[in-house]
Amino acid sequence: MTQDLTGVAGALVARGKGILAADETPGTLGRRFEALGIACTEESRRAYREMLFTAPGAAEFISGVIMQDETIRQRGSAGRPLAATLADQGILPGVKVDAGARPIAGSPTETVTEGLDGLRERLAEYHRLGARFAKWRAVIKIGEALPSRMCVAANAHALARYAALSQEQGLVPIVEPEVLMDGDHTLERCEAVTGQVLHAVFEALDEQGVALEAMLLKPNMVVSGDECAEDASVAEVAAATLRCLRRCVPAAAPGIVFLSGGQDARLATLHLDAINRAPGPKPWAISFSYGRALQDDALQAWHGRDEGLAAGGQALAHRARCNSAACLGTYTDELEQTLFTVRAGAPGRALRDD
Ligand code: G3H
Repeated sequence: MTQDLTGVAGALVARGKGILAADETPGTLGRRFEALGIACTEESRRAYREMLFTAPGAAEFISGVIMQDETIRQRGSAGRPLAATLADQGILPGVKVDAGARPIAGSPTETVTEGLDGLRERLAEYHRLGARFAKWRAVIKIGEALPSRMCVAANAHALARYAALSQEQGLVPIVEPEVLMDGDHTLERCEAVTGQVLHAVFEALDEQGVALEAMLLKPNMVVSGDECAEDASVAEVAAATLRCLRRCVPAAAPGIVFLSGGQDARLATLHLDAINRAPGPKPWAISFSYGRALQDDALQAWHGRDEGLAAGGQALAHRARCNSAACLGTYTDELEQTLFTVRAGAPGRALRDD
């Protein structure tokens, strides 16, 4: 079993490939749709997800897709389950399995992620529905006296319990402890808190007997807060992020797949590229598992219209290609400016004109 899981974890971080996070709940997606005046119905969410999952050429750069409960049960317009549509293209289906972050007793401005009750049975069902990996997100806020030790410990424990159960049920766990970029904190403070959280998470993973070879870490990059007076440069972000990861993430973990966390899409690509270009030891594959930074342009281009489907799919494939290059440290301005096109008559397979 662990050997199969190691193979899946390795495939998710195959050279030049990364993950599309499309696991927004109907509520979160509804808020994004609403901002653009798009009606949020089960059908419009399905149409949007199907556009992302069938974007011509994207499978060359996307190793896996994180869905959520509604999507993994949905069928596309031709009646095929969306999970099977992904698998047909060699993309691994994954699913978010946490039940969301709720206020933590004793520190009500912080949260602990819930969803451990009944998780074993839900994981078994998701496996039957085609999922091969899972995701659980913990949320850590930086504030004057935050995060509290109880918040870090409770979230690390839940992440480790989830990861152990996922491996038991044949799913590769993506372990996502997100230190939010909300606030006026400095780059240095983000580095210190991210380090504290990662140490706690790996200690808990060890306590729960999680096989590090069969999991992926999905952390935040080390950035200054979005209200910090001074924005850290791309080089500073890359240096601080690598320093922090080298101190905290065992080499046995096969891959680190960053979340984008609300960064501008191009900046998230630039940061990933700079991290991969930087000198020094990197014992893990370093890739992406972006949500907003992959989807924002696609959502704008689609705008809820049938006639926007082609442009939406093209926008997704373009950002996926740019981030694929960033995984190799070969992202350039020229690549950014060259819109990705797939030669007509080659559905699903990426034959490029450029
Ligand atoms: O849980 C968060 C998603 O998996 C990643 O989303 O890249 O928009 O932060 P993001």
